[in-house]
Amino acid sequence: MENKDNEQTIKPADLRGILNYVPRFLGQTFVVALDGSIIEHENLPNVLLDIAVLRSLQINVVIVHGIDKQLRDLAEQRSISLSDFEGSGATDAPTLDLAIRASSRVSHQILEALTQAKLKCAITNSVKAKPVGIIEGQDLQLTGKADQIDADFLNHLIARSIIPIVQPIGFDRNGHTLRISSDALAVDVAIALKATKILYLCQENGFLSEGRLTQQIPVTELDALLASPEFATLSAPLKSKAAQARRGIQADISRIHILDGRIHDGLIREVFSNEGVGTLIYGNEYQQIRRATRDEAPLIYHLTRSGVAKGELAQRSMQAIEGKIENFYVYEVDGNIMACVLLDRIADAPTTREISSLFVHPLYQRQGMGRKLVRFACHIAEEEGAKQVIALSTQSQEFFTSLCGFEIAEADTLSPTRRTAYEATQRKSRILVKRLG
Ligand SMILES: CC(C)(COP(=O)(O)OP(=O)(O)OC[C@H]1O[C@@H](n2cnc3c(N)ncnc32)[C@H](O)[C@@H]1OP(=O)(O)O)[C@@H](O)C(=O)NCCC(=O)NCCS
Repeated sequence: MENKDNEQTIKPADLRGILNYVPRFLGQTFVVALDGSIIEHENLPNVLLDIAVLRSLQINVVIVHGIDKQLRDLAEQRSISLSDFEGSGATDAPTLDLAIRASSRVSHQILEALTQAKLKCAITNSVKAKPVGIIEGQDLQLTGKADQIDADFLNHLIARSIIPIVQPIGFDRNGHTLRISSDALAVDVAIALKATKILYLCQENGFLSEGRLTQQIPVTELDALLASPEFATLSAPLKSKAAQARRGIQADISRIHILDGRIHDGLIREVFSNEGVGTLIYGNEYQQIRRATRDEAPLIYHLTRSGVAKGELAQRSMQAIEGKIENFYVYEVDGNIMACVLLDRIADAPTTREISSLFVHPLYQRQGMGRKLVRFACHIAEEEGAKQVIALSTQSQEFFTSLCGFEIAEADTLSPTRRTAYEATQRKSRILVKRLG
C-alpha cells in the first residue's frame, strides 16, 4: 500500500482533538507490536515518529517485534526449509538459529530507526521462557512461551524515558534460547506492565465484514468470530492476533487494536480518533458490575454500615435495602461484593434518576471502582431514557464534581416529593446533578 495522500495526514487543527485524549492517556503504557514486515516497510520512520508523538504526550511505549518476514527471507537466501514461520508451530534447531539471526537484525533496525528519530531505546533481555511442549500430539521443540516478564527492568527503563525493545526470543531457566510468538509476547508484556493498550501493526487493517472494515468489535463478538467458520478464512497473522486479543482482554487489557502499519499517520489516527484506521477490540469495562440479587440485601447492609456510621451515607434499614434491591448494583471482586450503588427512580420526576448508597469497601477505595460504578449507573439511567442523574452527598461532593462530571445544583432542581424528603432529613447534603446525552 502506498502512503496516503495529504488529505489523510494529521492537520494542525486535529491537535485540538488529540489534546482531548491527553489527560486520559497520561502516564499509561501502550505496547506497540510490530510485525517483521512493518520493520522493512518504507512507512517505518513514520510509525516511529508517531511513537515519538506518544512519548511527547507522556505515554509510555514498549515495542515488541516479530520476525516473520525476515525469517522467510533468510531461509530463502540460505535454502533452509523452516519448520515454522509464525512462532506458534514447531521450531527445530535450524529454524531457531535463523530466528536468532533475524531477531538480532530486526532489533538493530528498530534501534537504528529510533535513534534517528532521537528517541532513547534499548534492546532488552526481559523474557524468561519455557517450552510450549507437546500440543495435540505435536512436539513444538524449541518454541517457547513467556514464563516471566521482568517488569521491574522494563519499568526501570520506561521511568528513564527509554523505550524497551522486546525480541520474540526468550531464555529458559538454563539459559537456553526459545522462540516465542511476538503476538503472544505482546500480551504477556502488556499484562506484566499493566498496559492499557496493545497496538498490533501488521499488513492488514483488521477485520472485514462484507468487504468493509469493522472498526470496533466488543470481545463478545470476537468470541463469536473465533467460533465461526469465518475464522478459518482469516490469514494466519490475523488469526493469531485475534486469539491473543481474546487472551489480553480476559487479562483486563481493555483495548487492543489491529491496524495496517503501512498507513501514513495510522498509529496516531488509531489512538487519537473515534474513527480509527484498524479494528479496535474492546472488553466490557463493566463486567464486574451486576444487578444485586434479593439474597444479597444483608451483604449490602453490612458493607455500607461503616459509611452510615460516619455519616457518609444516609441510614437505610435491611428492609429498605430489600425493598429496592432490584435497583442496587454491586461490584464483585473474586466473587465478593466490594462496592455497591443504588440507582433509584423518583416518582414525580420520570426523566431523573438518583444515585445513592454509593460505597466502596475501604480496602478497595482509590482503585477506580467508585468512578466505574457512577459511570455505569449513568449509562443505565441513559438507557432507561433518563435526562439527568442526581446525587445527594454530604462528604463526597468533590468526587462527584471533579471526577464524575456532576455540577452543584439548588434545591429547586429537585421534584416536589424529592425536595420534601430532602428537607425532612436535615442532612443538608449538597445536591449534585449530571445531565445525560
Ligand atoms: C466516594 C467513594 C465512593 C469513591 O470510591 P473510590 O473507588 O475510592 O473512587 P475512585 O477510585 O474511582 O476515585 C478515587 C478518587 O476519588 C477521590 N475521592 C474519594 N472520596 C472523595 C471525597 N470524599 N472527596 C473528594 N475526593 C474523593 C480520591 O481522592 C481519589 O482521587 P485521586 O484519583 O486523585 O487519588 C468512596 O470513597 C466511598 O465509598 N466513600 C464513602 C461513601 C461515600 O461517601 N459515598 C458517596 C455518598 S453518595
